[in-house]
Parts: sequence; structure tokens; C-alpha cells
Amino acid sequence: MSLAQIGVTGLAVMGRNLARNFARNGFTVAVHNRSPQKMTSLLAEHGDEGDFIGCESLEDFVAALERPRKIVIMVQAGPATDAVIDALVPLLDQGDIVVDAGNAHFPDTRRREAALREIGLHFVGSGVSGGEEGALLGPSIMPGGPAESYKTLGPILEKISAKVDGVPCCTHVGPDGAGHFVKMVHNGIEYADMQLIGEAYQLLREGLDLTPAEIGDIFDEWNKGDLESFLIEITAEVLKQVDARTGKPLVDVIVDEAGQKGTGRWTVQSALDLGVPVTGIAEATFARAISSQIAQREAARDVLSASTSEWHINNRDGFIEDVRLALYASKVVAYAQGFDQIQAASEEYGWNVDRGAMARIWRGGCIIRARFLNRITEAYERDADLASLLVDPYFANEVSDGVAAWRRVVSMAALTGVPTPAFSSSLAYYDALRAERLPAALIQGQRDFFGAHTYKRTDVEGTFHTLWSEDR
Ligand code: ATR
Repeated sequence: MSLAQIGVTGLAVMGRNLARNFARNGFTVAVHNRSPQKMTSLLAEHGDEGDFIGCESLEDFVAALERPRKIVIMVQAGPATDAVIDALVPLLDQGDIVVDAGNAHFPDTRRREAALREIGLHFVGSGVSGGEEGALLGPSIMPGGPAESYKTLGPILEKISAKVDGVPCCTHVGPDGAGHFVKMVHNGIEYADMQLIGEAYQLLREGLDLTPAEIGDIFDEWNKGDLESFLIEITAEVLKQVDARTGKPLVDVIVDEAGQKGTGRWTVQSALDLGVPVTGIAEATFARAISSQIAQREAARDVLSASTSEWHINNRDGFIEDVRLALYASKVVAYAQGFDQIQAASEEYGWNVDRGAMARIWRGGCIIRARFLNRITEAYERDADLASLLVDPYFANEVSDGVAAWRRVVSMAALTGVPTPAFSSSLAYYDALRAERLPAALIQGQRDFFGAHTYKRTDVEGTFHTLWSEDR
């Protein structure tokens, strides 16, 4: 029996589809699951799709693999991943490659990579985006870990990844936790993208009194231009969906409490640690939290005064275009912030992440795949050290075309009482970046006043402290 080029352990939905993807692409794949039933059902249902070697025990699984072994673990993040690694490690040989393709938190990946490096094994924390369909048909893959491991692992992962213009949506991201970090920020950007789309929908709904299906048609139109993306495309479909039970638009029947699994929260926590303002992602994460604060929402609904203005929209198409431009500009801000965070982590941990390459591997397979990622790649190709995506000539120009519309939309939302935290905070961020002077000077004065924290002057080098008046 020939040996397998790759192994997958953990055959729940994602692992099973990844294993099928390997097999469909011509690799012999060894498959294993803690409880063998998932392995036998995979072989029974899909064994004819390629060369599988079903393994009941971890020992058989390891023995079925050619060396250096390449083993993909696809189990729950956290203790389950550690348990599988602990069980595998004594069975492996120097140079074998263990890939964690789950949604691990990057500090865990750094810890695991260091531990396995110590004993001569390669540990690759890899982001895999695209859900179960992506796993089967071609995900965006973000492998970190030692560059050396990518020489043998990379071609296999590239083969099963999504392709855009023939280019694989997979590249070596950087050492240790870089892959899982980039996947985490990808998910954070996804939160921001979804929230922004939600705000655009709410504005169109309340401002123009449109039905969800009519707004779905607008999103379909938008999907033909700069905003073309998977999320815009599926938004149109969600909005047009009619509930079979009530005949109402499904979106009106769904409870308005957004769930979250935690990657948005991790992104914001890391951004706070790194000191990078990811306001779009943070607002999107908090917006989900507010939606789930049922007690507070119920208590506030009839108590908090509205004092809102009436909507006055004379030009329907003009308003739709304004919302589109505001959405696009806010989206650029969210991506700019996410890429800043990747850069900050890259410097902090010495990862040397190529931001343009990240945009390139997000063009296909993943949830945030979008036409404008090409533009981001081009921006970083023009200047790999770009201070902010917003100052790239292409994006600066695009956003400046929409700034007036963005301001109209945000002010109209404030006047009419439509919550647009992501639109509004993105505009505030944009204005903060371009401001000649920020009130941070006053804050430095306050800090020096109460805590002698000192300040710098605009006219003289050095650090200063004022003896503030005592007779106040
Ligand atoms: P999904 O959400 O798609 O169901 P998941 O919950 O992330 O997937 O992962 C479940 C997988 O992790 C299963 O393959 C599970 O094995 P069992 O089928 O035997 O339950 C595996 N898993 C969870 N904990 C594990 C552990 N401690 N050791 C080995 N495998 C484990």
C-alpha cells in the first residue's frame, strides 16, 4: 500500500471537507477521527472521490504517512487541540509537520510552535477561511510556522486552495503565530464589513421605506461595482428570502440578536494590546454585544427620548448613492485599520508579513473575498511600507470622492436616530487622521496637571512639566 502524502485528524464538518478536498486534488490522504465512526462514514459516503486511507488508531494514522509526515489537525480550538498534539507528538519523528487548521488563538499557536520546535517538530498554525463550502471547494489558507515547512507543505495547500486568476489563495504568512493572527484579523474585518452592510441596509430601510427585497435589488446593483464581494452578494439573497411559515421577509422574522464566536473580540483585545485603533472592528463587535443586551434594550426602549428629525429625502437615487459611497469609504477605513494591526503585530513579533500578499490570498475562498482586494494588493505593491491604506493615491482618491456623501449620511443618521456606529466611527477616524491639531494637546495638559505626566512642546525639544497654579 502506498503511503499518504497528507493526513487529516478530526473529521467533523470542516476536517471531513478538507480531507475530501485533498483527495479530490489527487493526494492520498490518511483520515482519522477520535471516534472512528466519522472516519468510516467519510469513506462510505465519499470514498470514491479519491485515495483515502482510513485509520482507526492514531498509531495506524501516523504509520500511514510518508515522511516528513504532514498532519492536519481539525478539532475544536483550545484543550482539544492540545490533547491531539500531546497524543501525536510521541509518535512522530524529527522534521514531521503538524498543522493546526482550526481557529486557534494566536498566543496558543506561538506556545505550541515553540514547544514543538524544541523537540525538532514543525508546527504550522494555519488560518482556513471559507466555511465548510470553502474547505471542500477551495478555501483561503493562511499558514504560519517555520518557512522551511512551507517548502513541502506549501505546494499541497496551494493545490487545494481557492484560485483567483490562476493564483492560489495561500501563501506562507510568517513564523509561529502569524497565520492564525492574520486569520483573526480577517475575521475582525469580516465583523466590520457585515456591520457596515447592516447599517447601510437600516438606513435604506428607514430612510426610503423600502422592503427588504427592494434593498436586496440595490445590493445586487452595488455588487456590479466597487463593492463587489461575497458579503454583498449574500446580503442581497438574505434580504430577498421569504419566510415559508409567515410569508414575511425572513429578515423580519429573525431575532435581532447577533451571535459571535470570539474572533472579533480577540482582534479588538489584540488591537488594544498593540495600541492600534481598529475602531470599525471594535464598533462592529460592540454592536453585536449591544444587540444581545436584551435587558438593557427593553429597559431603554420606552424611556430614552428620541427627539429625532423627520427624514427628508428629495432625491431617492441620490440618497442610495450617498449610502453606497459611505459604505465604501467606511469599508476602506476598516481594512486600513486591520492592515495596520497586521503591520503592528508583524513588527512586534518579527513576522515580516507582506500585507499585499495577504490581500491577494483573501481574494478568493474566504468570506471577505471582494473585488477591491486587488486594489489593496496593488497599493502595497506600489509601496510596501505604506503608512496607511487611506493614503495610497488610489484609495485617497476613491475615499475623497465619497467624503461629502459620507458626512451627509452620518449626519442624517444622527438626526433621524438610526444607530450607525461603524459608519460614524470610521468617519471620525478619517477626520482624526487628517486633522491639523487634535485635542490630545489638551489631554497632555490635563495629564500633566493631575499626574505630572509631562508633555512635549511644539517649539522646543525636550520634556516639560508646568507648575500649575495652586490658588485655583
Ligand atoms: P464541528 O463544529 O464542525 O462539529 P468541531 O466541534 O470544531 O467541529 O470539532 C469536532 C471534532 O473534534 C470531532 O472530530 C471530535 O472528535 P469526535 O468525533 O470523536 O468527538 C474532535 N475532538 C474534540 N475533542 C477531541 C479530543 N480531546 N481529542 C480528539 N479529538 C477531539
